[in-house]
Amino acid sequence: MNYPEHNWSFLHVNDSHMGTARSYRFRPAINKRWAAIKQQIAGIDADLLLHGGDLTRDGDTHEFEYQQAREDLDTLPFPTFVIPGNMDVGNKHASQNGVKNRWDPKGLGWHDPDLNMTAKRLDLFSNYFGPLQWSFLHRDVRFTGFYAALAGTGLPHEQRFWNMMERLPHLPPAKHHVAVMHYWPFMEHPDEPAWDLTKGDEYDNWYFSIDPPHRQRMWEILKAANVEILFCGHVHTGRPVQIVDNIRLYRTQPAGNTGQLSERWPEADTRFGFHRCDVTNEGIDVKFILGNDQCEEFGTFGPLGHPSVEERDYNIAEEKPPIQPDIDL
Ligand SMILES: [Fe+2]
Ligand SMILES: [Fe+2]
Repeated sequence: MNYPEHNWSFLHVNDSHMGTARSYRFRPAINKRWAAIKQQIAGIDADLLLHGGDLTRDGDTHEFEYQQAREDLDTLPFPTFVIPGNMDVGNKHASQNGVKNRWDPKGLGWHDPDLNMTAKRLDLFSNYFGPLQWSFLHRDVRFTGFYAALAGTGLPHEQRFWNMMERLPHLPPAKHHVAVMHYWPFMEHPDEPAWDLTKGDEYDNWYFSIDPPHRQRMWEILKAANVEILFCGHVHTGRPVQIVDNIRLYRTQPAGNTGQLSERWPEADTRFGFHRCDVTNEGIDVKFILGNDQCEEFGTFGPLGHPSVEERDYNIAEEKPPIQPDIDL
């Protein structure tokens, strides 16, 4: 590296969604795009990698994919710090307006609220990837990761999440604070209303962002903790950095999976890649690095969306023997 000795780098990716041909569905293009990105980041003299969730295609029902993603990340020459995404541990809970089950306003058979995260799945994820939330100091930068979709679940994990969040402003300060979450904290602004998942034109906003009042509580904490950079993925669509309350909010491009909602914003970026963050005396410079393989879809089989376990046909797996869905979710 041609950088002065005191300069150093860290990396960020999200939504690599590694899947398997042994599943009821597979999109080999996603694995191929991620494989190229992983090879690129492995060649960088970085101190660490932050992974912002959705490591897997269907890890919420396939423990096999946790194992596969863990082994994959372990081939990198630096440590990785991981938070879960909804495809790894299940969706944020839908309790708004009393709607808990079988709500499908788009008529796509994508029963998202049926695939709510569970305590067992969160614990299983931790067995492979460590704590669901973490904060540590490295070279005068504080790094914090959390899965904000825990808010509102009522699971014991939610209390642990808030406990860690409430501690953040009181932890030893650092020159910079970088945080990573999976969902977007909000679509456009922290004060936007609660989105109603029962309304077709608000469903996507509900699905991709954090609900009030959790959103505002979390945002106040991030401000009090002097977070300077906040990464979020989940939508698979990059947008220009937005500065809100002195926080640089990066809604990031995906590391393999296809963009969503991109028609909403002229500057939306659905290319695949990762973020290189160079730390100098002047600050942290975040650059999007284009993945070397931007291949189109090919060889895809199985349904899209979020089919329930009962609706899945593992007989169509191209690689045998097919994996089985985990029974005790
Ligand atoms: Fe994703
Ligand atoms: Fe996601």
